[in-house]
Amino acid sequence: MNTVTIQSLKDYVDQEVQLNGWVYHLRSVGKIWFLILRDGTGLVQCVVVNNEVSPDVFQLEHQLTQESSVTVTGIPRLEPRAVGGVELGVRDITIHHIAEEYPITPKEHGTAFLMDHRHLWIRSKLQHAILKVRHQVIKASRDFFDQNGFTLVDSPIFTANAVEGTTNLFKVDYFDQNAYLTQSGQLYQEAAAMAFGKTYCFGPTFRAEKSKTRRHLTEFWMIEPEMAYCDLEENMDWAERYVEYVVQWCLEHCQQELQTLERDTTKLEKVQRPFPRITYHEAADILRRKGADFEVGSDFGGTDETLISEEFDRPVMVHRWPADIKAFYMKRDPQNSELALGVDMLAPEGYGEIIGGGQREEDFDILIKRIRDHDLPVKPFQWYLDLRKYGSVPHSGFGLGIERTVAWICGTKHIRETIPFPRTIYRIEP
Ligand code: 4AD
Ligand code: MG
Repeated sequence: MNTVTIQSLKDYVDQEVQLNGWVYHLRSVGKIWFLILRDGTGLVQCVVVNNEVSPDVFQLEHQLTQESSVTVTGIPRLEPRAVGGVELGVRDITIHHIAEEYPITPKEHGTAFLMDHRHLWIRSKLQHAILKVRHQVIKASRDFFDQNGFTLVDSPIFTANAVEGTTNLFKVDYFDQNAYLTQSGQLYQEAAAMAFGKTYCFGPTFRAEKSKTRRHLTEFWMIEPEMAYCDLEENMDWAERYVEYVVQWCLEHCQQELQTLERDTTKLEKVQRPFPRITYHEAADILRRKGADFEVGSDFGGTDETLISEEFDRPVMVHRWPADIKAFYMKRDPQNSELALGVDMLAPEGYGEIIGGGQREEDFDILIKRIRDHDLPVKPFQWYLDLRKYGSVPHSGFGLGIERTVAWICGTKHIRETIPFPRTIYRIEP
C-alpha cells in the first residue's frame, strides 16, 4: 500500500492509501464523523462511517484530540465540495500520540499569546501559507541569480568592522577581541565580485534595532548581489528584473497560499518592468505636495515611504540621495558631489523599503577619507581598501530584505509573521 501526501491524493483516487498526519479538526453527525487531517502539504476531510470501519476505530472519535498524530488508511474519492477536490473514505486509523489540550484553538487569540506559541502557531493555516511563500521567494531568488551568471559566495557572520553605521551593532566576545554580528555581507561581496564578476550571498544579518516597528527585526535574511563593471543604472536594471521575477514566480507557484491569505493578486500582477525611477529630490517633492511633515535632507520614515509609494502601482526606485544620510562606501554623483549614487526600492501598498543598494566608491584615496569622515577605524578596513589597489573597477550591488518582501507579497501587515522564529527587541524565545 502507498503512503502518500495529502497534496498528491488526487493521483490515487479509488486506490487504498495511507496518510501520516495530525488531527486538525473533528466533527460528528451521528453515524458518521469527520476527521480533518493535516500533514504539512494540505488538509483533507477523512470520513468515518459506522459500518465501514471496526467498532474500535469508530469509537476513536471520543479519544482523538486536536493535533493528535495518526496514520489514516482509506480510499480517496473525488468530492467537488471538499478542499482540494478529494476526500478520504476511512478504513483504519492508527494512533501515534494523543495530544494534550492544544493551546491554539479556533477561537481568537492575541498576538502575544500566539507569538509565545510560535513553535505551534506555524501549524496554523495562515502562518503555514506565509512560510510556504517565504520558501518560494527564497527559491526564486536563488534561481534568478543562478540563471543569470552569478556565483554564490557566502559572506561571514562574525566581522571585525561595521558596514551600515555603528549605532545598531551587536557586539560579541570573540576570544580576546571584539567582533560584531554582520549587518550586511556587502563588503565581502565586493571582494568576491572582483574574483568572480557577478556574485551574491544569502544569509542572516543582524541589527540591534531598538525601534519597535512593523518593519524591523533584529535578525533578518538578506540576499545581496554584487556586480563588477556595473554602474547605478545597470544596478537598477538588475534590481527590477529580479523583483519582477520573484513576484511573477510567486503568482505562478503560490496560488493556493495567496488565496488562503486572501491576497489581492491583481496588485501583484502589475509588478512588471519598467519600474519608475525617481530621484530623492523628486520623492521629496511628492511629500511636500502631499503636505507631509518632512525635512528635505533627512531619511524617509515609514509614513513618508507609504506616501511616496502610493503614487505608483508597482515598486518605485528612489536614487541619488543626500550623501550625508548614506553609508561611507557610496560613490558620489559626478554631477553633484552632495549626492550619493544610492538606490532604495519601495514596495507598493505601503510595505516600505525592500531594497537598499547603489554604486560603490572605487577610488582608494576618496574611500579612506570617507572612512575617516565617518569616524570609523581604518585598520579593520585594510582588506577592503586593498580592493581599490589591485584592479579597482566601477561596481554596484544591492540587498533585498526577504521578510519585508514576503510581507508585501503575502499582504501581511507585520514582518514578524514572515520569519519562522522572529527575533525582536523584546523576543528571543521561542
Ligand atoms: O538598506 P540596507 O541597510 O542596505 C544594506 O545593508 C546594503 N549594505 C545592502 C547592499 O548593498 N548589499 O538593508 C537592505 C534591506 C532593506 O531594504 C530592508 O529590506 C532590509 O534589508 N532590512 C531589514 N529587514 C528587516 N529588519 C530590519 N531591521 C532591516 N534592516 C534592513
Ligand atoms: Mg536602507
